[in-house]
Amino acid sequence: MNNTDDKQADRIFAEPVGQVSPFCFDETVAAVFPDMISRSVPGYSAILSMIGDISERYAQDNSTCYDLGCSLGAATLAMRNGIQAKNCRIRSIDNSSAMIKRCEEAIALDASTIPVEISCGDIQQLEIKKASIVVLNFTLQFIDPNDRQTILQTIYDGLLPGGILILSEKVHFDNTSHQALMTELYHNFKRVNGYSDLEIAQKRTALENVLRSDSIQTHQQRLQQCGFSSADLWFQCFTFCSFIAIK
Ligand SMILES: C[S@@+](CC[C@H](N)C(=O)[O-])C[C@H]1O[C@@H](n2cnc3c(N)ncnc32)[C@H](O)[C@@H]1O
Repeated sequence: MNNTDDKQADRIFAEPVGQVSPFCFDETVAAVFPDMISRSVPGYSAILSMIGDISERYAQDNSTCYDLGCSLGAATLAMRNGIQAKNCRIRSIDNSSAMIKRCEEAIALDASTIPVEISCGDIQQLEIKKASIVVLNFTLQFIDPNDRQTILQTIYDGLLPGGILILSEKVHFDNTSHQALMTELYHNFKRVNGYSDLEIAQKRTALENVLRSDSIQTHQQRLQQCGFSSADLWFQCFTFCSFIAIK
């Protein structure tokens, strides 16, 4: 992201608390989010950089590119700097007012002239029209699993022919020994990035029933059911992956 220089360190779960509250994207999280996500999601910066490259290839003239669950606008900025198509606009939305306030500030500092409309709202209420690219970068996992097919269908219906969905998610594996290995390697990644065992454990508790992961197979079945002509993985590291689905 552009605001790495003034990254505030994430120490939200550093001290022991009696009762860990469910995770939410409030001001405390928004303030440390660049540090939190880069130390918690393996490949996050690579995924952003590739979203820029993919945008260069897939953005269509006279279309809209959507960043759903935009947080501080990292994927918005990646798209904005990658898009070469003419007369494109970007629509970015998040239901956390703390995130949106900081997102507006970050976009205002960016030199690109591609118009960006930022709003605070629920992605499930958003109308998607004339879209060439839709990005769900680690957002769908926070939506009620019962609503996931509907939102993906809305995205598919709003995409132009040849349009794409980039769907990045934390996933789980049905094979228990593989799941255990991936979890162990992931926790080691977090330790290497400076998180203590207490921070790892308390964050895990906070995310229980808030981040509900699916398997890779469940994601691909949903995308196929929507009608996407292909839905393939283009990135994976441990339990973090990203799909590209093409209409
Ligand atoms: C892990 S963050 C996404 C990271 C971001 N896409 C990026 O690339 O940096 C998940 C975001 O989804 C937002 N979110 C969760 N449910 C939402 C909903 N129903 N509508 C809009 N935003 C939502 C949260 O507020 C949060 O900012």
